[in-house]
Amino acid sequence: MKTLSIAALVGASTLLMAQPAETLPVKAEGVKYIKMLGGALKTQLKAHMKKDPSGLEALAFCSGSADAITKEVNAKLPKYATVRRTALKVRNDNVNTPDETDKTVMQSYEKAIKEGTLTPKDIKVVKVGDTTRVYKPLVTQKVCLKCHGSNLSEKISEALKSAYPHDMATGFKEGDLRGVIVAEIKKH
Ligand code: HEC
Repeated sequence: MKTLSIAALVGASTLLMAQPAETLPVKAEGVKYIKMLGGALKTQLKAHMKKDPSGLEALAFCSGSADAITKEVNAKLPKYATVRRTALKVRNDNVNTPDETDKTVMQSYEKAIKEGTLTPKDIKVVKVGDTTRVYKPLVTQKVCLKCHGSNLSEKISEALKSAYPHDMATGFKEGDLRGVIVAEIKKH
């Protein structure tokens, strides 16, 4: 398999889209796991926001269960695979802190957003040792702003402060990169 170096990643997102054919199955497998986690979280978020449009109930749900749902989804994956969320500006720094590869990929997504070339289907495949990482960008939507935007209600603000003393994940605008979901698939 051809290895993509991190250096090649920087500012070369178009190169990355041209994946060698043999990485395609692993890419599809990664996307499947990404959808499992993304789908589980989004369905729950939507239901809770509908029940309580202030966002408070959804916030309690996210604080209490996002990590548990992530673990549940991971328990369903094959032993050689994991899936997680991360961001450049992290809310839960206990579990979602990015590493250098994550940061490089997210910076290239931010660059693509700036240049107006990012699409939600802009999946990136990166090899790190014997693991293939598959990344999907999470672009900030209107619904995200209640808890990640600039004009948070007082109640949301307070709840965030007490649950996440190091919260960096506010001040986003619609269309900003909020983070990524990344699947990691070990050679097996
Ligand atoms: C009701 C409040 C709320 C809404 C709405 C919300 N989030 Fe979050 N988000 C949170 C909380 C709370 C966490 C921390 C979860 C945890 O403790 O693991 C979080 C964490 C995240 C993370 C993980 C990285 C990190 O910073 O810890 C990502 C990525 C994320 N949110 C993206 C989004 C996107 C995209 C949307 C819109 C589709 C969204 N969120 C909407 C409350 C919210």
